[in-house]
Amino acid sequence: VTETTVLVAIDGPAGSGKSSVSRAAADRLGFGILDTGAAYRSLAWAAGETGADLDDEASMLAVMDRWSYQTTLLGDQRIGVLLNDGAEYKTYDITAAIRTPEVSGQVSRVSKHASVRVRLNEMFRQIVAESGLPGVVIEGRDITTVVAPDAPVRILMTASPEVRATRRAGELPGMSHEQVLADINARDMKDAKVVDFLNPAPGVTLIDTSDMNFEQSIQAVIDTVDAARTTR
Ligand code: DC
Repeated sequence: VTETTVLVAIDGPAGSGKSSVSRAAADRLGFGILDTGAAYRSLAWAAGETGADLDDEASMLAVMDRWSYQTTLLGDQRIGVLLNDGAEYKTYDITAAIRTPEVSGQVSRVSKHASVRVRLNEMFRQIVAESGLPGVVIEGRDITTVVAPDAPVRILMTASPEVRATRRAGELPGMSHEQVLADINARDMKDAKVVDFLNPAPGVTLIDTSDMNFEQSIQAVIDTVDAARTTR
């Protein structure tokens, strides 16, 4: 008997609570978590490391040829890459390095390339298929629409820009609320040109966490998963 992995697709903008809520919900469900933004971030990091031009699609594909992505789906999430410097592969733990404001500011230059997205999407589907897990929560911007449009559970998580800025500011001490809000709005505008993650596609459940605390947001995801299970 082949047991298939249940997919829970979650999209949303930065600061919607998507990442932390997805992780906590996955833990409770006994599912893995795949943070697709981390893969885009790791490519932006690799471009910096290799001196590649982030705006040049061919250069980014060349980086991907020398790059191998490593992520844990369960427990404490570590992000690593293998990079070939021409002679040998070197391993880097970039769990912290991909969360800097510098990488956040550069990553849209990578994610705008259609062929980069196609390759990453294939990689995401392969990671899920090989996971051997009962379920995987996969979160990003185009999971409900492009990566896994057939997922049994599809959620768009949003929150007002002010709420999102407040949450992000808490994670980035030293930056003012205004600066964080400006950065978030600038990044969303760039990213939204590539994929629409601000409006739910048909059949996608909208969860607005503006007036929800962390626990309520997790529960909203679990309830959506339960509802999908009982109607199947
Ligand atoms: O979720 P995040 O902030 O870590 O995502 C980093 C960037 O990657 C974000 O600016 C948009 C991009 N991204 C994307 O284009 N598609 C995805 N599925 C996930 C992230």
